[in-house]
Amino acid sequence: MSSSDSIAINRAYLDSLVLEGRIIGAVHPDAGWTLFGKTFQTPVMTAALSHLGKVHPGGVPELARGAALAGAAAQIGMGGVDELKEAASGNSGVIKVIKPYQDEKEIFSRIEAAEEAGALAIGMDLEHAINTDDDLDSVVAGYPMEMKSVSQIAAYVKASKLPFFVKGALSVSDALRARDLGVAGLILGHHNGLLRWAVPPVQVLPEIRKAVGSDLVLIIDGGIADGADAYKALALGADAVSVGKPLMGPLGESGAEGVAATINRITSELKGYMARTGVKDLKHMDPSVIHFRKA
Ligand SMILES: Cc1cc2nc3c(=O)[nH]c(=O)nc-3n(C[C@H](O)[C@H](O)[C@H](O)COP(=O)(O)O)c2cc1C
Repeated sequence: MSSSDSIAINRAYLDSLVLEGRIIGAVHPDAGWTLFGKTFQTPVMTAALSHLGKVHPGGVPELARGAALAGAAAQIGMGGVDELKEAASGNSGVIKVIKPYQDEKEIFSRIEAAEEAGALAIGMDLEHAINTDDDLDSVVAGYPMEMKSVSQIAAYVKASKLPFFVKGALSVSDALRARDLGVAGLILGHHNGLLRWAVPPVQVLPEIRKAVGSDLVLIIDGGIADGADAYKALALGADAVSVGKPLMGPLGESGAEGVAATINRITSELKGYMARTGVKDLKHMDPSVIHFRKA
């Protein structure tokens, strides 16, 4: 592990946060929330995964179906229109994250397809336009990507009635620019370390929440492995969290049921932390519960 490894830096930061107990008057908490008028039983959702055919024959649609079984939304990643339609038919809370294709036709056709398929929202992982190494021009699964200008992003936002997420934002500056463009929310993360030395999403989250207030939906992406991680993100200002790699093993072993069981496990752990810290529902999450661990 190199010290520039953003996944390791993120893990260490999450593990540096500890919780105070507020046990007097504890109640059974409610972890439900509403996104764009649709109610979910949990703020835990799938990360935008793709190329899952080798993990499970049902691939991405099976992942989305598993999220639906747990009452969860599902981000889905790169993939064709048929896959998108199948995923959206199995989960009415699909957020289709579109790649920053160099070919704009690929983008607009997927935006249209997401609307037709009944997706809840769309987004773009803008961070994947740039490789980690010296070669800045990313090619993903054979498709050339492109860094996107403000006017291009504005055109994607305007192309559809669906709310639009920017994935890969990790700063107040991007948050404010995204808000000005009419973006509905941010998926805060670094896409498995595409940006080395990345500030942990949960570390920059309070500044971003303070800057945008309730104007943007904020989803924390990257390194969320259990209910404690989810709790810390939600307490520090996230509306929801996404889980990617930890769902791949369960998807491979037990398909949708495995995905649902993992989301249910993280949700019940989250509720345990909520109960022990005096939080009755997600609207009452309180950052003052969080302390930094001193060695
Ligand atoms: C197999 C795999 C495929 C992925 N495909 C996409 C994708 O198509 N689009 C995208 O925005 N992110 C994609 N990601 C990144 C995830 O959405 C997520 O940002 C990243 O894995 C960090 O979250 P995690 O630590 O919970 O895995 C992919 C990740 C994995 C492991």
